[in-house]
Amino acid sequence: MGAAGLMGAEADAVDRLVAWFEAEGDDLPWRRTRDRYLVLVSETMLQATPVARVRPYYERWVRRWPTAGALAAESVGEVLAAWHGLGYPRRARRLHQAAGILASEGWPAPGRLTDLPGVGPYTAAALRCFADEEDVLPVDTNVARITARRFPDGWPGAPGRGWDAGQALMDLGRRICVAKKPLCGACPLRPGCPAADAGPVADHSTGRRQGRYEGSMRQRRGVLLGALAEAGTAAASDDPEAAASLVADGLAERRGGMLVRAG
Ligand code: ADE
Repeated sequence: MGAAGLMGAEADAVDRLVAWFEAEGDDLPWRRTRDRYLVLVSETMLQATPVARVRPYYERWVRRWPTAGALAAESVGEVLAAWHGLGYPRRARRLHQAAGILASEGWPAPGRLTDLPGVGPYTAAALRCFADEEDVLPVDTNVARITARRFPDGWPGAPGRGWDAGQALMDLGRRICVAKKPLCGACPLRPGCPAADAGPVADHSTGRRQGRYEGSMRQRRGVLLGALAEAGTAAASDDPEAAASLVADGLAERRGGMLVRAG
């Protein structure tokens, strides 16, 4: 099925996005599977580590622990050692815990994926989109930037093509609709893009100069983490972007408008 039901211009935009992905999308190992466990592994790695770095780790991981049962049977020490170099090792601990639950209880209902350790709204949406092929968009920082620029009224959806559209947006955000100096001339979503039509696209990069700590995302995350450690909660609205980044990494959870320490 095509994009029946979408407004014409939005259906055209999704058509162009998917056609671009078919021609130019990256051939990545986690795109050759629809296995939920493997998607959980790749999306957990990709939450906070770039694609090029994740790739060899993912390939080794799936050779060594091809199923949730295999991972659950491993010691946490071995799992952490295999994770070493990806950063934020809490992700590995939680993945191991999730594997234990999957091995003993199986998968929760689609609406309860966030019951699993380390699975926040982003990863739950990624499982539904990239494993189950539902038309659910996983919104990470890259995708949020694209939708803010190109679809300020909201993502139109991609009925029947949620997988392709979701993967396409991942590549587009990494290669074309980048935070700083986006390559609008090469973008399949350029026609009808209000951000590009308005002139040079605003810089959506988070930090300042690279290496500068003050004002950087690392520093802003640190401020929020400090508040969480001290008070147990912090207002997500103090710094929504840093809050989203902590939640994506499993370091904090949302409770209404507040952030609380994870797990
Ligand atoms: N970043 C997060 N998920 C991704 C995916 N499936 N492909 C490429 N980059 C990603």
